[in-house]
Amino acid sequence: MFPGDLVYIRERNMLITNSSQVAIDLLGKRTRVYSDREESWTTKLCGGERIITFFQHSNKWRSHRKIFNEVFRRSTINRFYPAQYAKVLDLLHSLVATPEHIMQHTMALSQSLMYVTLYGLHINYDDPIARGAAETVDIFGRVFLGGFPTLERYPWLRFMPSFFPGCGFKQIANDLGKKLDDLDILPFERAVNNLKTGTGTSVIAELVLRNEEKPAVIKIIKEMGTASLIAASDTTMSSISSFLLIITLHPDIQVKGQAEIDRVIGRDRLPTFEDRQSLPYVEAIYQEIMRISPPVPLGISHVASEDDSYMGYHIPKGFSPFSLMLFDVKLSMFLSGCTVVPNIWAMNRDPNLYSEPDKFIPERFLDSPSGPFKSVNDIYAYGFGRRVCPGRYIADTTVWLTIAYVLATLDLRKAKDNEGNDIDIPGDFTKTFFRHPMPYISSILPRDAQARDLISATAELK
Ligand code: HEM
Repeated sequence: MFPGDLVYIRERNMLITNSSQVAIDLLGKRTRVYSDREESWTTKLCGGERIITFFQHSNKWRSHRKIFNEVFRRSTINRFYPAQYAKVLDLLHSLVATPEHIMQHTMALSQSLMYVTLYGLHINYDDPIARGAAETVDIFGRVFLGGFPTLERYPWLRFMPSFFPGCGFKQIANDLGKKLDDLDILPFERAVNNLKTGTGTSVIAELVLRNEEKPAVIKIIKEMGTASLIAASDTTMSSISSFLLIITLHPDIQVKGQAEIDRVIGRDRLPTFEDRQSLPYVEAIYQEIMRISPPVPLGISHVASEDDSYMGYHIPKGFSPFSLMLFDVKLSMFLSGCTVVPNIWAMNRDPNLYSEPDKFIPERFLDSPSGPFKSVNDIYAYGFGRRVCPGRYIADTTVWLTIAYVLATLDLRKAKDNEGNDIDIPGDFTKTFFRHPMPYISSILPRDAQARDLISATAELK
């Protein structure tokens, strides 16, 4: 272990794990101790108690996780392939049509894929359900991740009316709770109705059919859909938009990726999942994107439910008595154990593992002894232990497919101004919990007439 691999902030009873080895040892191997989540009054007040991400390590969590694992497990992930081919193709069309809306297009892919795979619904970005969902995800991200600091410090304020000084958060919480209800109900009811009327079936509707007599399970199925819509949106969108930005800034790497696809697959068809193992350079690009630009750089904190020790250090469950003397102590911290933050950003930039860690160098995965085809379970961007992302197999295949399709058909370059000069791309990213590129202008065109034909011809086959 190196100095700085493990940082303990006593006042907050918070442990920051900056090295992958420590995260694997604690969160990955001692799962009985490190699988809880922080308790938050904000979550409770806003109706976030239905979202698995915030659950304690409890039977409730286990029953939700079981449904997630059933729906998104590796062995049946190929049932989603047709939807992924179709939706990623839609993304290519949108990128060529309006390249100035890259962020909207990548978000539309992330969300529409969940609607079609889970609910069997082909929902466009301008459908009221989709617009409501996008708005909810946006507010949700802002509210939950910052929390209501006044409420966290003075939880008794939750009993006061919203006009009470400092209680403006109650109105926001109320509105968000209603939006989450809509997200729970609207697509779910449409999916079930489609099954009943014979209009179409879906994963959710079939699960409901199998559990018709079990209202508690039906509630879990409904909440699984809501949590998936929320958890899939910013994350998948982040990885794909990071790829589009980074590859635009690295035309040399784009050309190498295109050359591999041309050599292995040719120019008369699009890549498929069956081609994945034959495309090591494309794989290396995917791995390098997940390394250099993890969508959730600080992961989602785990909480220790027991006292523990590691490498001679004591990791306390309870709240450090020293901090009780500090003025700004959060009351909720009396209740929970040590918060463990997996600093994925730092792990992925560990200079002992990655030379020149701030540079985008896909070749590092080709040259590594294990090669580029890492298991999705070894990609730190998807988290650790029992709380590892249950959507990682669909996320992994969606991001990979997008990379392969884009390289096969498109040229991404800096756009030109009226004088023919390159328009600079600052390459900035947000500094938010979910990190993604700031909007930018670029040129996105089919590589040539053959690529244009390929996109259109395949679109007709949908
Ligand atoms: C590139 C895309 C994605 C990335 C990078 C990502 C990353 C993560 C991370 C870092 C966590 C926290 C893991 C931990 O606590 O250690 C997580 C949790 C979660 N993810 Fe993902 N995710 C992605 C896509 C998805 C998708 C498509 C779904 C849809 C099913 C999903 C559903 C969830 C859920 C439900 C949790 C909470 C699990 C729990 O607390 O038990 N994610 N994800």
